[in-house]
Amino acid sequence: MNSSGQTVHVDLGSRSYDISIDAGNLPQIAELTRLWLGRSPDQPLRCFIVTDTNVLQPHANAVKSALSDAGAEVQVVCVKAGEASKSLAEASDLYDELVDFRADRKTVVLAVGGGVVGDLAGFVAATYARGLLFVQVPTTLLAMVDSSVGGKTGVNHPRGKNLIGSFHQPAGVLIDTDTMATLPDREYRSGLAEVIKYGVIQDTEFFNYLENNIVGLNERDPAVLRQVVARCCELKALVVKEDEYETTGLRAILNYGHTYAHAFEALAGYGVLLHGEAVSIGMLCGSRLAKSLGRIGDAEIQRQVDLLTAVQLPVDVPQDLQAKPDEILKCMLLDKKTVAGDLKFVLPDRIGHVDTIGGIDTKTIVDCLSS
Ligand SMILES: NC(=O)c1ccc[n+]([C@@H]2O[C@H](COP(=O)([O-])OP(=O)(O)OC[C@H]3O[C@@H](n4cnc5c(N)ncnc54)[C@H](O)[C@@H]3O)[C@@H](O)[C@H]2O)c1
Ligand SMILES: [Zn+2]
Repeated sequence: MNSSGQTVHVDLGSRSYDISIDAGNLPQIAELTRLWLGRSPDQPLRCFIVTDTNVLQPHANAVKSALSDAGAEVQVVCVKAGEASKSLAEASDLYDELVDFRADRKTVVLAVGGGVVGDLAGFVAATYARGLLFVQVPTTLLAMVDSSVGGKTGVNHPRGKNLIGSFHQPAGVLIDTDTMATLPDREYRSGLAEVIKYGVIQDTEFFNYLENNIVGLNERDPAVLRQVVARCCELKALVVKEDEYETTGLRAILNYGHTYAHAFEALAGYGVLLHGEAVSIGMLCGSRLAKSLGRIGDAEIQRQVDLLTAVQLPVDVPQDLQAKPDEILKCMLLDKKTVAGDLKFVLPDRIGHVDTIGGIDTKTIVDCLSS
């Protein structure tokens, strides 16, 4: 890993790849794609870009121009922005477009957008012709620090999120932090919840860094953003390297706050809570649970409250949800990560380290909904 934080290497043997992080590096997409694919400038490059209606202009069009200018043949397909596009129907439309484009194993699929576009395009790349080359150009903070790293791709089933999917690592990831200039405030702050999560689960020093750079975080300072995104990618890469296919249990630490958060998202109604907002509240429920098990004290909870509040994330379970502990519990038990009725929680024992804990009685779990 590069100490300037600009290139993070994801070490996965033959599936290893680089994440190139900078402010204003989007025009390098052709050069980097050729590098990652091992294609010289005189070899043909056929690119199939998937994007959404909010990202097409200016970002996907900028990627398209850079690739065309470098001599690539480019097709752009734009899906409707929003989670509903992460469907088999949309994947099927993309397969049709790939047939029309006469895509073959040498064609590269580029996802230019947030996690929705990344998961959808990645799934299509994983499955079409038994696997196409794939490059990620994430444009939301969440996609930069989470969904574009690690190779999970997929679409939703009407009865369950991310139920249909596959592991398919990209050949490379280009992160231009400048693309976040157009990201709506709420989406940006939602991504910050995942950023703060990495500090709590893996890295005390990083948590300190975030506490010391609140102004930079709130103002989207380019130097701070590059530093933050690079560190999160490194931290996620470490976890993915040890548990690429989610078999050893280590990858589960990324779910800190998420057992509660998934229930809040499901019960709050569509669009009421963004994922990161639910994670922010869920992390504090998890921390209260950790405190009730004697793992941490009030100080560790307060530091998280202070940091989350400083970046304007919600910290309290909404009143209407607090009134429904039984429904929240039921929802958590239905979560696909719950094994045989035993809810497992990722809980800190200090800022910078967590363990997965099961066998907690349900009253203790719901008591942590309020402070
Ligand atoms: N594969 C994984 O490991 C993984 C991990 C976490 C989340 N996810 C998935 O990621 C998805 C959520 O990702 P997300 O939060 O990025 O959502 P998203 O892709 O829906 O993007 C959020 C919104 O921001 C818009 N947008 C994106 N980039 C923009 C930009 N630069 N300027 C202006 N608007 C922009 C989008 O059009 C959308 O309206 C979920 O489907 C989730 O399941 C996957
Ligand atoms: Zn998350």
